[in-house]
Amino acid sequence: MPQLNFDTLIIGSGLAGLTLALNLAESRRKVGLITKQALLDGASGWAQGGIAATLSDEDSSGAHMLDTLISGAGLCNPAVTRYVVEKGPQAIQWLIRQGVPFTRDLDNRTGYHLTREGGHSVRRVIHAADATGQAVQLTLTEKVRSHPNISVLEHHMAVDLITGAKLGQTARNSSRCHGAYVLDSAAGVVRTIGANNTVLATGGAGKVYLYTTNPDTATGDGIAMGWRAGCRVANMEFIQFHPTCLYHPHAKSFLVSEAVRGEGGQLKLADGSRFMPWHDHRAELAPRDIVARAIDFEMKKRGLDCVYLDISHKPAEFLKEHFPNIYKRCLEFGIDITEQPIPVVPAAHYTCGGIVTDWNGKTDLDNLYAIGETAHTGLHGANRLASNSLLECLVFGQAAAADIIGQPPEPPPELPQWDESRVTNADEEIVISHNWDELRRFMWSYVGIVRTTKRLQRAGHRINLLHEEINEYYANFRVTSDLLELRNLVDTADLIVQSAMLRHESRGLHYSRDYPELLPEARDTVLKR
Ligand code: SIN
Repeated sequence: MPQLNFDTLIIGSGLAGLTLALNLAESRRKVGLITKQALLDGASGWAQGGIAATLSDEDSSGAHMLDTLISGAGLCNPAVTRYVVEKGPQAIQWLIRQGVPFTRDLDNRTGYHLTREGGHSVRRVIHAADATGQAVQLTLTEKVRSHPNISVLEHHMAVDLITGAKLGQTARNSSRCHGAYVLDSAAGVVRTIGANNTVLATGGAGKVYLYTTNPDTATGDGIAMGWRAGCRVANMEFIQFHPTCLYHPHAKSFLVSEAVRGEGGQLKLADGSRFMPWHDHRAELAPRDIVARAIDFEMKKRGLDCVYLDISHKPAEFLKEHFPNIYKRCLEFGIDITEQPIPVVPAAHYTCGGIVTDWNGKTDLDNLYAIGETAHTGLHGANRLASNSLLECLVFGQAAAADIIGQPPEPPPELPQWDESRVTNADEEIVISHNWDELRRFMWSYVGIVRTTKRLQRAGHRINLLHEEINEYYANFRVTSDLLELRNLVDTADLIVQSAMLRHESRGLHYSRDYPELLPEARDTVLKR
């Protein structure tokens, strides 16, 4: 199997990866973009609400920054936050130039409709009806597929990064990344891909939990690979639970956008009483951590299976125009949102922590970058503000491109091939499916919205056992994408639990019954191997 070489290898095809690829390709860099399923299968395409940016006259970067800092519960890096919000308008202009069909509003001076979401003090979320991620991804993937400088390898899953340390190089070169070993799932072989620069853009880790709004691809691959290669990882305890995932036995992972609350949707109990005003003066428009915790509290206190999101007081035409996909999907399950409240529950949605990076997406390893949900840039703090995630993908995708373009291209070295001489085909696939299920269940029960030290310890013990089994499996059997995902999920779960154990306070998305107070000083949880 000959080694494949690229100037830049991008692992992941969400908005961060596509933005980077297109920006690099314009300056004639040879880009390899690998994705473990098809190009459109990642989490970015599932984003409903939109992208936060200061576009209207009533708004300012100061206001966007303040909303982000308040939502982040004292843990956002203010300088990074300012940098990102100030880059927002130009990032949106770039998307408009690419042809993204954002919803228009000719009465608005910007020409675009801006919606509102929890934690935002003004309307600032530009969107394409209620399927913004899909509109963005469709536009960009078409460009990526037809670009002569970008080679797309679908159904290729990275196994591990190839670093100087792995190659036994001297201390001076040991921290350099040279590319990755990549499983070609269709052919069942592991390819060696060399690259001058490698970028982790694989998204988050929602699949670590039993209930999630994320697609099946969200298995923490980039975070786990970066960690195994020696990168620092920060703030992994801050897993965001989206307050409103559709509750229906046949609806897998269907999000009901926060924009529904932004446009007036109210959260209610079965008897029709509104409960959010009992919990926070901002009611349904409080930041997500507060709304999700309030729902969890009401459900546990009253022994409920779900609560209800009601927007039926709005005109039916308005709802069909602004939320066509939510309207259609709910109707498929017999729920007419123009007349009935929607049953909802919180579900794991977003990984606020990740691989530590600088303002250009650079990690601790030379020639290795991390961007998008995989990275920890300091923007999200202890709780991401709604619709700041796609913004972060755009800003850091462009920043990493500029940084890479500033370096002279260098051919990657000849790398050793993947060694399969001592492994055989797995004897029992049941071990993998059972462990997947077990991990996701105990993470949901023990490391969810409300935590205790005892529950975290229980989860930690189980993770140690799973680690042992999976490492043995990995050492003895040929790799498959299921095994690789499980290995990454267990590593990511371990990082979440370790980080949660280290935080002796309740802040943002991390709430511990044993440490309910907020400490006076906000500190990041940084893990190093
Ligand atoms: C939503 O539409 O509620 C999701 C948007 C986000 O996660 O920022």
